Amino acid sequence: MLKLSQLYETSIQLLSVQNSYILSYILQQKSVKANLNIALSYYMIEKCNKNCYAKKNGRQIMRHLMSPLDFSVEELDKLLDLANDIEAHPEKYAHKCDGKKLATCFYEPSTRTRLSFEAAMLNLGGSVLGFHSADSSSASKGESVSDTIRVISCYADICAMRHPKEGAPLVASEKSRIPVINAGDGGHQHPAQTLADLLTIRSIKGRLNNITIGFCGDLKFGRTVHSLINALIRYDNVRIVLISPEELKVPDYVRDDVLRANNIEFKEVEKLEDAMGELDVLYMTRVQKERFFNEEDYVRLKDFYILTKEKMELAKDDMIVLHPLPRVNEISVDVDDDPRACYFRQAQYAVYVRMALILTLLGLAED
Ligand code: NCD
Repeated sequence: MLKLSQLYETSIQLLSVQNSYILSYILQQKSVKANLNIALSYYMIEKCNKNCYAKKNGRQIMRHLMSPLDFSVEELDKLLDLANDIEAHPEKYAHKCDGKKLATCFYEPSTRTRLSFEAAMLNLGGSVLGFHSADSSSASKGESVSDTIRVISCYADICAMRHPKEGAPLVASEKSRIPVINAGDGGHQHPAQTLADLLTIRSIKGRLNNITIGFCGDLKFGRTVHSLINALIRYDNVRIVLISPEELKVPDYVRDDVLRANNIEFKEVEKLEDAMGELDVLYMTRVQKERFFNEEDYVRLKDFYILTKEKMELAKDDMIVLHPLPRVNEISVDVDDDPRACYFRQAQYAVYVRMALILTLLGLAED
């Protein structure tokens, strides 16, 4: 087993290879992938600690969003307050980004994330450009993300990037002249979704502390889960219940290095019914088909959890159900009418928080 310091080195070397094909080959080796994820998480935390400021010597510093830890808790509070103000007074913000452009560089499919980023920029008076698949970009000709972002930096003011390879948006941010937002990197992190999740919980429950949250489904590959856990442990008295089959448990770099290392109260259970009654928030997730190494495993696990009306009867009256979406089978459609089902509201909150994020990263939040 490599030492942590060697893992940093390895990950940085691999990332600076900047050739997506080589990186892809390396990342497909399972054990290397696990190590790389650990290394990436540590590297990001290191980097975030350095990056966690907006102004230095009175000068605005360019910032990216790679991990939810890129913002301090105080900064997150401000960002969520801004999102709530945008929700209440959208007209105040309609021209804040006049003349600004957002590039959406999506190397992986997306409906909500890409379109909500685009809607956010349009609501702010800006415009959007971009691509929605690797096939429709020069990645299909072998261009690296580093080269692509150098070029995009000439065309746009800010970029939201989704990539199937862990660490790709981070590589891009290191060569970028514009702020880069990680809109999902492989099975690693999805901080842009985390902001929407935090805003939804805070707006509906009125708090981010004193909650028991259950994460259910694919906790191994679910990047939204990894990012939200990282973000929530900074609030007081957050209890976490991890609900998954054995094969889809959270990776060690979340259980040991995030939960245990920070003395967070958590437990792991297999049956949703066993956890239901104690939860304030239930965060359902889809089994991440595209990250499985074989189809058989996916087919066996895909319907492991189905949240039904009957199971909802076991929950508190004020529990809320979240899901980053898309849903496949894991929430039965007859749960949608339950007032506790908040996943479509969550998709709406995503627009407000992305407007707040764009304003913050462009340094326009305080104008
Ligand atoms: C998630 C993602 O892409 O990780 N979706 C999203 O961004 N709203 C969840 C998923 O695809 O299952």
